[in-house]
Amino acid sequence: MPSTLRPLALALLPVLLLAVLLIGACGGDEGGETATVPGAVPAPLPPGVTAYEIAGTTPLEKVAPDDSEDLHNVFRLSENVVSGGEPHGEEALKKIADMGVKTILSVDGKTPEEKTAAKYGLRYVHVPIHYSGIDVPERLRIAKTFRELEGPFYVHCFHGRHRGPAAAAIGRIVLDGVSRERAAAEMRQWCGTSKKYAGLYETIARAPLPTPADTQAYSWDFPSAHEFEGLRHAMIGISRIHDHLQALSRRSWAVDPNHPDLNAANETDQLVGIFKTAKALSEMQRKPEDFQAWMRESVERSEALLATLREPPTGTAEHEVWTQAATEACDAVSARCTACHEVYRNQ
Ligand code: HEC
Repeated sequence: MPSTLRPLALALLPVLLLAVLLIGACGGDEGGETATVPGAVPAPLPPGVTAYEIAGTTPLEKVAPDDSEDLHNVFRLSENVVSGGEPHGEEALKKIADMGVKTILSVDGKTPEEKTAAKYGLRYVHVPIHYSGIDVPERLRIAKTFRELEGPFYVHCFHGRHRGPAAAAIGRIVLDGVSRERAAAEMRQWCGTSKKYAGLYETIARAPLPTPADTQAYSWDFPSAHEFEGLRHAMIGISRIHDHLQALSRRSWAVDPNHPDLNAANETDQLVGIFKTAKALSEMQRKPEDFQAWMRESVERSEALLATLREPPTGTAEHEVWTQAATEACDAVSARCTACHEVYRNQ
């Protein structure tokens, strides 16, 4: 470089550097077509087609979940938001910490393992929601968590399929600035949220979402545990046992070498106990007749399953018949969960 040009080049250097920095800061803005004002929330989508249909209109590229024994259906939706199932045990919490996550948001009913999570530098926030949709205070708590606590966030329910992905979708909108259509599409096409939970889809498509001013004004201290009593508490226990039984049923009731401690008859014995406790709850007297009938049948059907499981035959020929009978008895229990939920939980 001729020596006369050198001062000019030096003078221009800061300008160039500034330009590079500015371009860098503006690049990589996800969903940039919608997030024009920082922190603005998109307006509810107009009525018409169902939110589930909206979630199917823009095809997303196929993404497979990260699935392991102790951590199911994990999707990294963005730098900031990971959606998945409940972490089972310390190893799973370590995996979450290894993803760089700082805060775990549970929207499931079960009390989180907050002390173990803290060992890995993870903060737990508990906002249990329903399958029927996310109401106003819950939306405020979820949005406030995303806006005011340290990310990245791991958002989970029990299986990481329905309620968790809906809460994660709120994070995608308020934190990442994606459109409601995109957030709903991720629930349906990636996480596999069922069409049955129309209320969860409607929340993402059409519920008013809190603005930054709303969440700032909302006073709430991010509790790490909310404990339930009564029917909801019973359901949390029932669902975990039911999961074990379904897994054993899929293995034709053979012991799982990864969980040699899981014994089908012992699990069912516990299930019978919780259903009986639930049936005896005082709140049960106020329930409609069909509700009470499903609860009675649940006790009877789980007792029938227990009777079958306690008498495995010795011969191979009989064993196949027994396996089939146990699976049918287990399906009969599940049928009552589905029937009661359809009317009293999902809508
Ligand atoms: C007689 C009705 C009835 C039966 C039978 C029933 N449930 Fe429920 N379940 C409910 C209701 C009602 C709720 C919602 C409770 C609430 O949110 O207050 C619920 C909630 C749940 C929840 C959500 C808990 C949470 O995190 O808030 C799960 C999971 C669940 N049930 C699993 C099951 C399974 C599995 C079975 C069968 C083995 C079953 N339930 C049988 C009525 C029933």
